[in-house]
Amino acid sequence: MSCPMKDNDFAQFGFNMAEGTEGYLYGDYLQLDKVLGAQRLVSAENNRPVHDEHLFIVTHQAYELWFKQILFEVDSVRTLFIKSELDERLMLEILKRMQRCVLILKLLVDQVMILETMTPLDFMEFRHYLSPASGFQSLQFRLLENRLGVKQEHRARYNKDHYMAVFSDEPSTALLKSSEEEPSLCDLVQRWLERTPGLEETGFNFWEKYRNVVETLLANEEAAVAKETNDKLKEVLNYNAKKRRELFESVFDETTHNAFVKRGERRFSHKALRGAILITFYRDEPRFNQPYQLLSSLMDIDALITKWRYNHVLLVQRMLGSMQLGTGGSSGYHYLRSTLSDRYKVFLDLFNLSTFIVPRDCVPQLTNQMKYRLSLVEAVDGDFKCEGENRTNCCSCSKFHQRE
Ligand code: HEM
Repeated sequence: MSCPMKDNDFAQFGFNMAEGTEGYLYGDYLQLDKVLGAQRLVSAENNRPVHDEHLFIVTHQAYELWFKQILFEVDSVRTLFIKSELDERLMLEILKRMQRCVLILKLLVDQVMILETMTPLDFMEFRHYLSPASGFQSLQFRLLENRLGVKQEHRARYNKDHYMAVFSDEPSTALLKSSEEEPSLCDLVQRWLERTPGLEETGFNFWEKYRNVVETLLANEEAAVAKETNDKLKEVLNYNAKKRRELFESVFDETTHNAFVKRGERRFSHKALRGAILITFYRDEPRFNQPYQLLSSLMDIDALITKWRYNHVLLVQRMLGSMQLGTGGSSGYHYLRSTLSDRYKVFLDLFNLSTFIVPRDCVPQLTNQMKYRLSLVEAVDGDFKCEGENRTNCCSCSKFHQRE
């Protein structure tokens, strides 16, 4: 039987909740009087109102609101990670929040385009009112960099000064200092990667198996090069093979790896890097699906911030050219261009993981025990109890027990 109420009737069915019910109304709840009353045009205050200054302010404010949301998500994820043993059931929630940050950053990358509808001539009309204000003084942007894990020693210098020099008020400097001192997302992710099941030297011992595979691959490559008869080509192939061997040795030898870290060419601890390689190879195993997605979203975040930096540099060049100083006093375009290098990539090692992958058919086969460990079968009390030696093998995963 069909519903007696027609569609049109239903469209008008309801009650004005604003009348006679308690609680906040829309504008009060969102405190729109504050938010929408916060667009103060300096050009108007100087009796020379410039139309585009409104867009300039709203765009920056929208950025700051989204920065706030990203910080909120990143901090909440850091709190979940900070517990020494991460409950794997939280992984879905962590992923959800990180993917949310990815989507917001995509929006922020594109948002630059709206500001590009302002022409340099329009901008020139009010730019002189802005000094000494500059995006360089965005506290939230610096907090975000620090909480993600940008290291102070990797930062580009700003007028030969420390980035913190532009913050003089006590609450800001205190916040920045603690954001430098507290474990960053990068630190916490490393701590988690270091516990990747399968890294232990007992049992499956992925690292030894991987090393053997690489040794065979390199030896085969070198043997093929030795057979090359064209001298010029042989020289190039030899060079390539030598470079590849050196690269792999740098990942097998912890001391060499640490030297890369010291030079700023790698970020992760040796063990964390090994964990990331292990997850990359076995990402199809149920227990590694979500960890792999998390690693991808961390790379997305780094990539999107780099894209934002790039879009912002182009915007600055479009508005100011390459030779004008910024309102904050930097060399403008040239300073910003220096921030585009890998020095600001927090998860640099994840981007470079592809250097260490081997063809799929060479990836060491999982043992049955390891396969079980990477499955998502939750042990029912009394099932598959870990005993003796095996207990230490799986102590990093209190919820999953190995089949004897
Ligand atoms: C017409 C538009 C813009 C111009 C001409 C501009 C110009 C500049 C310049 C010249 C700098 C270098 C520091 C200085 O000397 O002032 C800078 C830094 C910065 N700007 Fe913008 N900007 C614009 C829009 C934006 C927007 C929409 C945001 C969004 C929040 C933003 C955020 C930043 C940040 C965070 C920095 C510091 C970057 C770093 O040090 O890595 N800018 N901007």
